Amino acid sequence: MEFPNSAAYPARYEQLRRHLQSHRYHWLVTGVAGFIGSSLLEALLGLNQKVTGIDNFSTGYRYNLDLVRESVGTDAWENFQFMPGDIRMLEDCVRACQGVDYVLHEAALGSVPRSLHDPILTNANNVTGFLNVLVAARDARVKRFVYAASSSTYGDHPGLPKVESAIGKPLSPYAVTKYVNELYADVFARCYEVESIGLRYFNVFGPRQDPNGAYASVIPQWIAALINEQPVNINGDGHTSRDFCFIDNVVQANLLAALSDNPRAVNQVYNVALNDRTSLNELYEMMRAELIESVPGLRDHRPQYRPFRDGDVRHSQADISKARELLGFEPTDRIRGGLKKTIAWYKEHLAVTC
Ligand SMILES: NC(=O)c1ccc[n+]([C@@H]2O[C@H](COP(=O)([O-])OP(=O)(O)OC[C@H]3O[C@@H](n4cnc5c(N)ncnc54)[C@H](O)[C@@H]3O)[C@@H](O)[C@H]2O)c1
Repeated sequence: MEFPNSAAYPARYEQLRRHLQSHRYHWLVTGVAGFIGSSLLEALLGLNQKVTGIDNFSTGYRYNLDLVRESVGTDAWENFQFMPGDIRMLEDCVRACQGVDYVLHEAALGSVPRSLHDPILTNANNVTGFLNVLVAARDARVKRFVYAASSSTYGDHPGLPKVESAIGKPLSPYAVTKYVNELYADVFARCYEVESIGLRYFNVFGPRQDPNGAYASVIPQWIAALINEQPVNINGDGHTSRDFCFIDNVVQANLLAALSDNPRAVNQVYNVALNDRTSLNELYEMMRAELIESVPGLRDHRPQYRPFRDGDVRHSQADISKARELLGFEPTDRIRGGLKKTIAWYKEHLAVTC
């Protein structure tokens, strides 16, 4: 099912975009050289906002910033200040938060397998780093702190679709760190009146997501493999499913969360996805079908199946009624449309990202 009118923005989002075009705020985007951070930067500069960005390039890239500069043009780029820095250092966070109205906190080490391999490093970035940004945001008296939470927080809870109030036990160190973020945000609301909103992203994908390395996400990794006619590996039997969410929906959720004037919406966590479910086998076939015309070698291409991966949940699907009701969130792009845009982007840019 496609959304009826995916060209236009949903009402609340359209209203917010118009507001931003005539009101300039100062935003801090942490992890700005990463996939989601650079997408937020691009959207904010496109709306004539002032942005400070911090990154230590541990998993992000300078070329992501170069690509945003190309896309927004030099005038909008003047409104961006990049601060090389590490959120594990409180002083870097304090400097980054100076004069900021809204924080969009994306910096973290993603990936369940990475956290199983090195839980101490994941904790330092995702928990200590998070706390540093939160303390700096509190002391700078920012208007609101919006942060990247994660669907991994649902852990072993069997319910589907996932509802914000029902979580299970975490299945990985990464999931623990993302849950701790929510606990800290909640405590900072109670103890220091810091307004925050956590966004539990479900498998986000889109342009500029890193296709390289052992910890790459499935969509950019498979697109790169298919374009290069290389093998695609599926962990498990391929019936594992996810609620894949195109990046524009995530950008929308962040802006709605930052600017919501609904008092009931604040100090909450929200699922950000589509309430949809696509198996890995279906995902593979959608991608192969999208590419087959330009890569004829894919006609006989088939995935290779490997054992299930530790820490992975079997199925994931988001109930998004809370975000719809309290934030006015309405996804604009479903998986097929999002994949089309993403694949078109990688066809043009794969050489830059590999
Ligand atoms: N992509 C997804 O599907 C997904 C799903 C759930 C949650 N998330 C969360 O969303 C956020 C952004 O994810 P992404 O996919 O853009 O990942 P990414 O790796 O592309 O971006 C993360 C950015 O943070 C930076 N960073 C990491 N540690 C840092 C530190 N100590 N100091 C400064 N910068 C640091 C990295 O260099 C990188 O640029 C993360 O918090 C992640 O856990 C992502």
